[in-house]
Amino acid sequence: MTQLLVIGAKGKLGSRIMMNCAENPDFSVIGVDVDELDITDFSATRAYIHQHSPTAIINCAAWTDVDGCARDPQTALRVNGYGAGNIAIACAEMGIPMVHISTNEVFDGTSTTPYNEYDPTRPINPYAYSKWVGEQMVMRHHPRHYIVRTAWLFAHGGKNFIHSIINAVKANKPLRVVTDEVANPTYNDDLAQAVIKLVATGRYGIYHLVNSGSASRYAFARYVLDRAGYADVSITPIISREWTRPSTPPTYASLNNNNGAFLGITLRHWQDAVDAFLTTEGLL
Ligand SMILES: NC(=O)c1ccc[n+]([C@@H]2O[C@H](COP(=O)([O-])OP(=O)(O)OC[C@H]3O[C@@H](n4cnc5c(N)ncnc54)[C@H](OP(=O)(O)O)[C@@H]3O)[C@@H](O)[C@H]2O)c1
Repeated sequence: MTQLLVIGAKGKLGSRIMMNCAENPDFSVIGVDVDELDITDFSATRAYIHQHSPTAIINCAAWTDVDGCARDPQTALRVNGYGAGNIAIACAEMGIPMVHISTNEVFDGTSTTPYNEYDPTRPINPYAYSKWVGEQMVMRHHPRHYIVRTAWLFAHGGKNFIHSIINAVKANKPLRVVTDEVANPTYNDDLAQAVIKLVATGRYGIYHLVNSGSASRYAFARYVLDRAGYADVSITPIISREWTRPSTPPTYASLNNNNGAFLGITLRHWQDAVDAFLTTEGLL
C-alpha cells in the first residue's frame, strides 16, 4: 500500500487528491498545508517528512497568485522554487518518489503548436520563473521525480474562471475576455485521478497532464455560457494588451500529453470535463 503525503492538501488540486485517495484501497493518505507546515522552512519540512515517513509525496503546495508573484518575485521564488527544493532534498534522503506539480507557464508562449514535454522552457514572468526554478531544484536534488505540468485548473468551491464568468453574468456585468491567451482548461478531478495513476507507475520524468484540446480564454468562456444556459449573453473579445495586469502570461501555452499517453494516462477533452463540472454544480 502506498502511504502518501500530500503537501498543499487544502488547495484546488491537493484537496481533490486527498478525497480520491481516501476512497482508494491502494492508498493511505495524510495531508498538510501551510497552517501546519511552511515548505520554505527547510528544517521543519525535513523533520515533518522524516517523522511521517510516507512512501511517496505529492507536492501541490505553491503560491499560485500569479499577479502577487509579479509584485513580490522573492516570495514567489522562496515558495515555488526553494520550497520545492526543500521537499526534494528530504525525499532524496528518505529514498521515496516525489510528484511535483508545475505549470504550462514554464514555456514562453511563442510556439504555435502545443508544447511537448521535451521542448525548451523559457519562463517570461516571476510566477513562471519561480515554478521553473522549482522544477530545476527537484530535478537536480532527486532523480525519483515526476514533474507534472498542468494548466488552467477549475475546481468546485473557491475562486475559479467558470464561476467568475457565470457570476459576472448573474450580476449583469459586461464581459470582456481575451482571445489571444490559449491553453488547456483542466478539471482538478481529472488531474487528481491522473496523478494518482502516475505515482504508481515508477516511470519517472516530465509529464504534461491536462484535459485534451485547447481553447482561448474567450472560447472557454463562450463554451461555459453556451452550456450553462446563457447562449444569448454576449462576450466582447479583446486581446491581452487591452487587459493590463501585473503578470504577463505566455499567450500560447497549450500542452501536449505524450509521456502520460505512453503509459495509458490521458484526460478527456476539456469540453467534456466542463460538462461534467457543470452537471455536478447543477448548472448544465
Ligand atoms: N490553478 C491553476 O490554474 C494552475 C495552473 C497550472 C499549474 N498549477 C499548479 O498546480 C499546483 C496546485 O495548484 P492549485 O490551483 O491547487 O493551488 P492552490 O489552490 O493555490 O493550492 C496551493 C496550496 O499551497 C498552499 N501553500 C502556499 N504557500 C505554502 C507554503 N509556503 N507552504 C505550504 N503550503 C503552501 C496554499 O495555501 P494558501 O492558500 O493559504 O496560500 C494552498 O493551500 C501548483 O503547483 C500550481 O502552481 C495550477
